[in-house]
Amino acid sequence: MFENLKPVAIDPILGLMTAFKADNRSEKIDLGVGVYQDDQGRTPVMASVKEAESRLMTLETTKSYQGMAGDADYNQRMLSLLFGEDHPILASGRVKSIQAPGGSGALRVGAEVVRKARPESALWVGVPTWPNHIPLLGSAGFDIKQYPYYDMATREINIQAMMDTLRKVPAGDMVLLHGCCHNPTGADLTNKQWDDIADLALERGFIPFIDTAYQGLGDGLDEDAYGMRMMANRLPELVVASSCSKNFGLYRERTGSITFVAATSERAEVVISQAMSTARSIYSMPPAHGALLVSMVLGDQHLHQQWQAELEEVRLRISSMRSLLCDSLENNATGMDFSHIKRQKGMFSFLGISTSQLERLRSEFGIYIVSSTRVNLAGVNSNNIGYLSNSLRTVLE
Ligand code: LMR
Repeated sequence: MFENLKPVAIDPILGLMTAFKADNRSEKIDLGVGVYQDDQGRTPVMASVKEAESRLMTLETTKSYQGMAGDADYNQRMLSLLFGEDHPILASGRVKSIQAPGGSGALRVGAEVVRKARPESALWVGVPTWPNHIPLLGSAGFDIKQYPYYDMATREINIQAMMDTLRKVPAGDMVLLHGCCHNPTGADLTNKQWDDIADLALERGFIPFIDTAYQGLGDGLDEDAYGMRMMANRLPELVVASSCSKNFGLYRERTGSITFVAATSERAEVVISQAMSTARSIYSMPPAHGALLVSMVLGDQHLHQQWQAELEEVRLRISSMRSLLCDSLENNATGMDFSHIKRQKGMFSFLGISTSQLERLRSEFGIYIVSSTRVNLAGVNSNNIGYLSNSLRTVLE
């Protein structure tokens, strides 16, 4: 039977990660996979998470099953993190959430539930979007449609074209939006643009499906949640997939949640029962470890504050690396403008260089960048900036 299978090309982002690890050059730089690196190029466990982990070692008394929804405290605390403790939606009973295996697992459960609710719905994704969105959500059976998002020429969101397309989205379709720190472009919607999209969703009857994987890495925990919180106030229905990979540094622990806002609390109960049944039919139950750590950090005043301070350090470091890279490329041979890198948010921006320049960076200089020219700014540090900027200047000549 297996002779019927054709080999599949390795995922472009994860393939790059493997190629980087196999490269023996000491000067190599990883600007590929979206993983935070500190100024020494390490991806440490956050001190607050490490402390929670050591407490858990002592406190954990069982490894028994938790059930399809995962940890109840985690689910509650994640809702407070996403929406803010005082958000009226929390008291309304219209919002429900279950733990999921990372942001990807959350996206998939969300997609499956929406497909059960309305099989004829299409899902609209921006161009470009995280490359795995399309296989991940498409495999749930969605008809995937596209709206324009980023203009490579102006290096800004093409808001006019985006809104023109959204104006034609039929009622009942889903529109995928990035909560903050847009992956791969770093170009985020302004609060006013979020408001305008909410107006349109109300007018047209489409339902936003928000993917929020970088809360706290853009402008701050509350600022990055503006769109999601405002939409939860104004819209009858909403789906939010969230991840703790980046803001808690829990990548391999696969810690996320899928959240549904429904028109009434009774509807929300029905939706969450469907989400649990969906989980049961795919992976049965989510892994516990990461969620127990997040729950402990969010539920303990000291650890919570420590985590917030660590996250702020991460955010500020990435932002300063944006400025450093941008400034170091000023007055380059081609006169290419990189100022968008300073304006954009979160881990990523497009460099906008050619494929041959990208290839040269990898083959001659050991600098690894995703083929779309998306760079992870957290891979830049005070030790490699000179080499990175000289290499870039060389290929730009
Ligand atoms: C990325 O975009 O690099 C990360 O979200 C990792 C991944 O799974 O692609």
